[in-house]
Amino acid sequence: MLHVRTRSVEATRQVAAALEPLLRPGDVILLSGDLGAGKTAFVQGLAAALGVTEQVTSPTFTLAASYEGRLRLHHLDVYRLDNLAEVLDLDLPELLEDHATICIEWGEVVVPELPRDFLRIRIHLGHLEDIEDARVLEIEPIGPSWMSRNQELNQACSEWITTDPGDL
Ligand SMILES: Nc1ncnc2c1ncn2[C@@H]1O[C@H](COP(=O)(O)OP(=O)(O)OP(=O)(O)O)[C@@H](O)[C@H]1O
Ligand SMILES: [Mg+2]
Repeated sequence: MLHVRTRSVEATRQVAAALEPLLRPGDVILLSGDLGAGKTAFVQGLAAALGVTEQVTSPTFTLAASYEGRLRLHHLDVYRLDNLAEVLDLDLPELLEDHATICIEWGEVVVPELPRDFLRIRIHLGHLEDIEDARVLEIEPIGPSWMSRNQELNQACSEWITTDPGDL
C-alpha cells in the first residue's frame, strides 16, 4: 500500500500517466472515492498516456466506454448499478478476456467478479491546509501479479509519495 498526494487535477493525471508503463494486457484498476474525488481525472491521465486521442468523459450514463490506445481501454462506471446482476450485464467476463486495460469507477460491487489481481485506488480529499484541490490516492496492489510490481509502483510514484497521508 502506498499513499500519493496531489495538489491539482493535472497532478492526479500525471500520477496515472506515471503508472501507464506498468500496465500489462488484462490489468484491472478499481477506483473508489467520493463524488468528484478524481476517479475520472485519473482515467483521463491514464488514457492520454496510453495514446488514446479521444476525449475520456464520465461514462455514467452509458456505463461503459472503450478507447483504442497502446492497450485498449475499457472505462466502466458502475455507480448507478444496484446489484451484481446489472453488473454482469456489462459482459465483464468478456471485457476481462480482452487483454485490455479496465478501469472501473465505484467498482467495489464487482470485486467478487474480478480476477485475483487488480490495482485498488482509493481517492480521498486531502485535507491539506487550505488547498481545496488536495487529494490523497491510496494505491494498493492486490494479488501476486500486482504485488510483484510493488517496487515499480513505488518508483513510478516516488515524486508524489507521502508518508503522512493525514487522517484519511
Ligand atoms: N487533486 C485533484 N485530483 C483530481 N481532481 C481534482 C483535484 N483537485 C481538484 N479536482 C477536481 O475535482 C473534480 C474531479 O472530478 P472527476 O469527474 O474526476 O471525479 P470522479 O471521482 O470521477 O467523480 P464521480 O464519482 O462523479 O464519477 C474535477 O472537477 C477536478 O478538476
Ligand atoms: Mg467519474
